[in-house]
Amino acid sequence: MANKFYITTPIYYVNASPHIGHSYTNIAADTLARYKRSVLGKENVWFLTGTDEHGQKIKKAADEAGLAPLEFVDKVVTQFKDLWKKLEISHDDFIRTTQDRHIKFVQQALQIAYAKGDIYQGQYEGWYCTPCETFWPLSQITDNLCPDCHRALEKIVETNFFFKLSKYQDWLIKYIKDTQNNPERMHYIQPASRRNEVLGFLENNKLEDLCISRPVERLSWGIGLPFSSKHVTYVWFDALINYISAVGQFDAQNIYRSAWWDKDVKVVQLVGKDILRHHAVYWPIMLEALGIRQPDTIFAHGWWMFDKDKMSKSRGNVVNPVEMVDKFGIDVYRYFLLRDVPFGLDGNFSEEAIIKRFNGDLANDLGNLIYRTLTMIEKYYFGEIPDLDISKTSYDQSGQMIKNKLEDLPKEVNLALDDKNDFSLALEKIWEVIGLTNKYVEETKPWNLVKEDKVEQLKAFIGLLVAAIRKIGIEIAPFMPKTAESIISQLGGSEIKKDAPLFPRIETKKK
Ligand code: MSP
Repeated sequence: MANKFYITTPIYYVNASPHIGHSYTNIAADTLARYKRSVLGKENVWFLTGTDEHGQKIKKAADEAGLAPLEFVDKVVTQFKDLWKKLEISHDDFIRTTQDRHIKFVQQALQIAYAKGDIYQGQYEGWYCTPCETFWPLSQITDNLCPDCHRALEKIVETNFFFKLSKYQDWLIKYIKDTQNNPERMHYIQPASRRNEVLGFLENNKLEDLCISRPVERLSWGIGLPFSSKHVTYVWFDALINYISAVGQFDAQNIYRSAWWDKDVKVVQLVGKDILRHHAVYWPIMLEALGIRQPDTIFAHGWWMFDKDKMSKSRGNVVNPVEMVDKFGIDVYRYFLLRDVPFGLDGNFSEEAIIKRFNGDLANDLGNLIYRTLTMIEKYYFGEIPDLDISKTSYDQSGQMIKNKLEDLPKEVNLALDDKNDFSLALEKIWEVIGLTNKYVEETKPWNLVKEDKVEQLKAFIGLLVAAIRKIGIEIAPFMPKTAESIISQLGGSEIKKDAPLFPRIETKKK
């Protein structure tokens, strides 16, 4: 098993402000990074995020804002960085595709592939919409009208550069399929349904070579090709390379060297389902062409919808993460996104759904367990936590069951997170223990133990609650860092430091 871990998120387009979708991937990646740091040590984990700043979309947004592209992207990048700070995202590096380190690297990569014959010059034929400034490949149009604005398209034939995807099609199919000799490749494209989708696509279609350039006169906002002053790179070729440009270099022999994109590192890449093709077809082939290893996992998560509808600016239903965090708190937002929907599936976002999780899982279950335990310690022990080793204490059946579950919990969480990235299952396992522990309080009726002067039993009982909460605090830390801190501050020492309840119920009006 690799003892180092490298995790990446897509780099986000900076043509508009960050929204719930961006925050979703970063919260998931942050949770995995925090989890892996707790298991492997901080120095063995690297977490990369960043921004995708070239291309037509960005140029257009900058023009509309009346700013030079770089001026414009600098502004929007600040919004992303501020949001990550607000959400406690613990990335180790933030890459921007306009940085010199990236531009230089992309040009080297292009040169290497060109010298190898994997990039070649050719004629590009397609249809261009002048008002939209968009080029439509034949496969995307049915008549000669623009699929976006429905105005007439102009046929364009131009010289461009192509990347030989076709040459690597059989290799890629074999690579994905060879799980007999390499069982870990079962996790290469995830979830399994997405792996099948990609395989189905590759087996039933002939890959066309990818046009990876745009003429400068049509698009100036991009990285120049090192072998043609008349062209810039297609934004996806530029963007995908961020994952390796941020963490390594080509040496004098054009061999890629990196401390993170390396053989003893587990490399996990989280992406949204809409950009799976780019990550599971173009990207693996780019890596192979450059002689660079494949990632261990490319995980495609689902989409958040609003009233079962796609979120979009024009529909005016885009959820603003800043607003949600201000309303409900960071940890509640993080918890909700990771708990409410299994990571690979689509989810429906609503404030009612957040409130339901809040009042149930957070206020009634976790908050209540902590608060009632603190209150009992205050009342029965004047705030001093009884010193007790639960491993040396015997319990009745329910107590013993909680003890066992606590012991198994790290393993259960690991099973859910490692390879599977199943955040909701991990949380479900933690909440199972919370539920059992709350039930144990109700069953035990500690006030009776006090009445009957059962000193030892009361101590054993409180000791178990404290041990449970501390363990739960450790396990939820990657998901809810602030809550974990609060648990340590309230119950981590020898005396309690009682704060206001963590999750006071939100009253909802009855309809
Ligand atoms: N710049 C490219 C990615 C390049 S990676 C080498 C890009 N950027 S994006 O800003 O448009 O989208 C980034 C991510 O946000 C994608 O993974 C996408 O799936 C995700 N989401 C956008 N809207 C979303 C939802 N409503 N729900 C969940 N995620 C969604 O694509």
